[in-house]
Amino acid sequence: MKLVFATQNKNKFIEISKLIPKGYELSNLLDLNFHEELPENQLTLEGNASEKAKFVYDNFSVNCFADDTGLEIEALNGRPGVFSARYGGESKNPELNILKVLNELKGIANRNAQFRTVISLWLNDKEYFFEGIVKGEIIKEKIGSGGFGYDPIFIPKGYSKSFAEMNLEEKNKISHRAIAFNKLKLFLENL
Ligand code: IMP
Repeated sequence: MKLVFATQNKNKFIEISKLIPKGYELSNLLDLNFHEELPENQLTLEGNASEKAKFVYDNFSVNCFADDTGLEIEALNGRPGVFSARYGGESKNPELNILKVLNELKGIANRNAQFRTVISLWLNDKEYFFEGIVKGEIIKEKIGSGGFGYDPIFIPKGYSKSFAEMNLEEKNKISHRAIAFNKLKLFLENL
């Protein structure tokens, strides 16, 4: 079966390709010759993942999945959430995003947070959702040089290292994205 992962991120595509079971022919937006930004106008992770997958499903008539991820901080009522990429400004600068979060959490004792990934799969006119959550806490200053985004200020529950101190293999064992994509993998294996 032909299946599209609605992403332009080559690294993400390579990583996820390894998970997709045999029997699926996986392609991405570049393979479809689509180089524009996908619509992402919704106010929830579910809404954005769904909008992206449905756009490709409708315009290219092919089964498709898309993901959306956000950092949800309890004391900030779930922010930055769906606004994670641009929290510090349109430049999508991770340093500015982190700075804004740390400023907003100054003097606040509750540091509970979670990363949440949502995948929407549009398959033969039906939609399926898969979710992955990793809970943890936001520390007061950055630690570690690996990873990306908010990794330097997030320590997953039960660990003493930030995501940015873990290598990719360690992070991928427990990450929100890994959990969500493993659910998708199981679903596809059992179709
Ligand atoms: P996306 O939906 O995967 O593009 O993620 C949206 C934004 O969430 C990214 O631009 C990052 O700011 C943040 N983010 C997503 N996944 C991670 C992660 O694994 N670590 C740190 N930040 C992340």
